[in-house]
Parts: sequence; structure tokens; C-alpha cells
Amino acid sequence: MQQGGPLNAVDVCAIKAPQIARDLSEQSGWNIRRVSLKNRNASAAADAWEQSVLEEFELQLSAGKPSKELEYGALVDGEYRFMKAQVTTPLCLKCHGSNLAQPLHEKIKMHYPNDLALGYQAGEIRGAFSLSFKPEP
Ligand code: HEC
Repeated sequence: MQQGGPLNAVDVCAIKAPQIARDLSEQSGWNIRRVSLKNRNASAAADAWEQSVLEEFELQLSAGKPSKELEYGALVDGEYRFMKAQVTTPLCLKCHGSNLAQPLHEKIKMHYPNDLALGYQAGEIRGAFSLSFKPEP
């Protein structure tokens, strides 16, 4: 974000962040994804369990729970699952807010024609990291 501004930062969020998730997955044996109720990348749609956890995070946040504490883990069908919410800061709104700079908006639309991840305000839940791990039987 420091060098190159938002146009390059698209590549950070679009290429680097997914790459880091893949690398961490390979190293740790955990499956690590980013998910959202309003996803930008088609593969970031939340599954049923993730949806219910994200909805619970929304309730907790509006009840005043600090955003850093929005996390939840459970054993689901023999799999360890864990989620940690990602809450928007003003910086995020450059690409997930309502008034995107024009060239940036064009670039995002080109890559993500079905983008839902717009119109956010600071302090809202953008999505979550979602981790899962299946222990050996
Ligand atoms: C410069 C543009 C830019 C900024 C700034 C940015 N994002 Fe993103 N974000 C993207 C793009 C592009 C994607 C799609 C990445 C992909 O294809 O996996 C994305 C995807 C995501 C996802 C994955 C789920 C989905 O909708 O596909 C999350 C979660 C997310 N961003 C959160 C944030 C948060 C939180 C911030 C601020 C801390 C932020 N982003 C700042 C451009 C940006």
C-alpha cells in the first residue's frame, strides 16, 4: 500500500493474501481460507457453518463485543474449525467502500464481475479467516 498506491494494493489483496493462505495451509496442515457473506472472489463464499458463525459475529459486534475478540472454534463433523473476523478500517474502504477511485473500480470490476464486497463502512465485518483441520482417524 505504501509503494504504488491502491492499484498495486489490489494485487496484494488479490494475489499475495491468497498466496499467504496457501503457503500457511501447506506448512501447517490446516486448510486456511478467507470467507465473507458478501464475497468478492467467487471462491470466498461462506458455507453454511461459516455463514452462521459470521451472523453470530454480527450480533456480538452490535452488542458491543470488541472486534478483536470475534473468534470461534468448534469440532464439526470430526473436523476442527476456527474462524476469526476481519473488521474494516478506513483503509479497506478504498476497495470495499462506496466511493472507489475510477481506475481502481474498473480494475476490480474487470477481475470480479460478480463482486459483492462493496459499500462497507469502517468498523463492519468484512469477512473472516476460516481454518479447518481434519485429524488422522
Ligand atoms: C487495494 C484494494 C483493497 C484493499 C485496500 C483491501 N482489499 Fe480486501 N480484497 C481486495 C480484492 C481485489 C479482493 C479479492 C481477492 C481474491 O481474489 O482472493 C479482496 C478480498 C478480500 C477478502 C476475501 C473475501 C472476499 O470477499 O473475496 C477479505 C476478507 C478482505 N478482502 C478484507 C479486507 C480488509 C479487512 C481490508 C482492510 C484491512 C481490505 N480487504 C483491503 C481488494 C482490497
